[in-house]
Order: sequence, then structure tokens, then C-alpha cells
Amino acid sequence: MPCTVIAGGFWGDEGKGKIISYLALKEKLDLCIRTGSVNAAHTIWHKGKRYALHMVPGGFVHEKCRLLIAAGANVHVAQFLKEVKETNVKNRIRVDNQASIIEEKHSTQDKTSAHLKGLGTTGWGVGPAIEERVCRTAKLAKDIPELKPYLTDVSMETNRAIDEHRKVLLEGTQGVMLSLFHGTYPYVTSRDTSASAICSEAGVGPTKIDGVIVVLKSFITRVGTGPLPGEIPKEEALKRGWFETAAGTGRDRRSAPFNSELAKKAIMINGATQVALTKLDCVYPECKGVKDYQELSKEAKQFISNIEKQTRTPIVLIGTGPEALDIIDRRK
Ligand code: IMP
Ligand code: MG
Repeated sequence: MPCTVIAGGFWGDEGKGKIISYLALKEKLDLCIRTGSVNAAHTIWHKGKRYALHMVPGGFVHEKCRLLIAAGANVHVAQFLKEVKETNVKNRIRVDNQASIIEEKHSTQDKTSAHLKGLGTTGWGVGPAIEERVCRTAKLAKDIPELKPYLTDVSMETNRAIDEHRKVLLEGTQGVMLSLFHGTYPYVTSRDTSASAICSEAGVGPTKIDGVIVVLKSFITRVGTGPLPGEIPKEEALKRGWFETAAGTGRDRRSAPFNSELAKKAIMINGATQVALTKLDCVYPECKGVKDYQELSKEAKQFISNIEKQTRTPIVLIGTGPEALDIIDRRK
């Protein structure tokens, strides 16, 4: 555990929030560092309440976990303050001095650009905000009075914690198929979403990482435009119980069956050491709420061992329901 990266393997919405919240509670995480921006929503069920977090790290469910927003992240100030209040984490959340700021004008630019609209962006304005960062005209967290009480040096805090062998989790957003470099360009988001980029945003070098968990869902979904191999019609998705709407934007998610070739690519690019497989109960309803591997149905076990065989990577966490603790944990 000491320093683990969590990355999405498909087009986001694999259930990273659930896996992060489970690890936070189970491992009593010391530090959880969020990367990316406000376009990504991590859904977390905690004490019967549902959170769709765009800014606050998923580790908030463990009350002693310190929460950091990385230098490479892009902060929406109003959303950040709203979520800090909602999750009551004011005393333990900090933002890197150099995180960039996303403003209302970026959202307007996103929504009025015919090109970006054609890609089916979330409309939050992350692309235009990153464009400004690249042009070196962006505002940074240290320029914003409301963020003054929250400022810190995230890479310094994180590397110190790693050196002290504390439990650190680097929380990725979206999935590798949405990566600006490795995804289905141009139908991608405005950053690299792979494990290496997650480390880079946090300011942690590759030699400091102990493991990378890639989160894969038992079926695949994608929102927005762009290719989706094996896509099934919405009626079929409804019939199979796979139909979802986006946690962030409420849009319909398109869906397709699990794809081993995509899983292999995701594992390769992320250098994954382990896999977390979510929503097994959506494909095998008889597995809902199961916490012991032996109690899974024969078909579900077959599905899991096939993926392990093809990807040569162990599936160590298996999600069987929405709550953080609805999980089969096969780690030693
Ligand atoms: P943008 O990131 O808002 O520019 O949108 C670019 C593409 O990435 C669109 O297809 C979005 O639907 C997709 N996208 C961005 N963030 C997420 C996410 O958190 N989950 C799923 N898709 C996302
Ligand atoms: Mg999401």
C-alpha cells in the first residue's frame, strides 16, 4: 500500500470513487491526493449518503485522512468551497500553491465552441482553462484570496509522507481511453490520464510508487462522442441493467460489453500491478453484496479468471454493490 496510484482503465466512470473510499477506510489512509479537474465526478456512498465529488479527494470518508489537490490539478474555486462544506473537511484539505484555476469564462468558451461541442465535452471549461495554463496566462491557487487558508506545497507534503512510510494514495480521474496522448483522439479530455501523469501532477517520481491499481468496470461505458467498440443500443443496455447516466452532467452513458483488448492496453500503459473490477453485480445480479470470493457464481468466477488469464494481472478487489464495503478483497 504505502504509495499507490489509482487510475481508470476505460473512459472514466469505472467506479474509482468506490475503490478509493474502500481503501481509505480499510487501510486507514494518511494522505489522498486528487489530480485532474472539475469535469470528473467521483461517486461515493458513505453512511447512506451519495456524494458526486468533483474536487474533494475520495479519501475524505476516512476522517483522519489528509486531503490534497495536486499542483497539476485545475481548481474550480466555487465547487471546491461547496464540497468542502458538504464533506466538512475544512481542517484537513489543502490545495497546492501552483494548481491552476478554472473560471466561468472557460465554461462559456467550452459551451460556445462548435468544435468542443462536437467532441461532447462536459462543458465545465477544462480544455480552455488548460489552454490558458499552457499559454502561461492562467491564474494559480496562490492568486485567489478565498484559497489562502488552504494553500500548501503538495509535492513536499506527499514526498515527506512517502519517506515516512505513511499510506498515500494518488487519485486519478477519468480513464486512459480519454487520455490526451493515449486515448481516442480527438475524442479525449485535455490531459494525460495515465498513472505516470497522475504522479507527475502530484509531483511524485516513478521510483516512489509501490503499486498501480487500474480500475475496470465489468462492462464499459462512455459519455460524449467517439468510438466505443461493441456498443449496444440503449434499449439493450436497459434490459441488461447496464444503463447509467453521468454523475457529473446527467447525460446518458453509452455502453458496451467488457473488452479484454482494451483492458490489456489500459494495464500496459498504466503499468498496473493489480486490477480492481467494479460492478460485477450489474453483469451477474446473483453476486450482489457478496463479500467472499467463494460465494460468487460459477459464471462470475469464470468471467474473472478469464480476464486475469488474458491480462496476466491479478484482480484483487471486486465490487459487488455501491457502498464502500460492498467488495471482495483478495489481497494477501
Ligand atoms: P472535457 O474533459 O469536458 O473536455 O470532455 C472531453 C471528453 O471527455 C468528453 O467525451 C467527456 O464526456 C469526457 N469526460 C471528461 N471527464 C469525464 C469523466 O469524469 N467521466 C467520463 N467522461 C469524461
Ligand atoms: Mg465519473
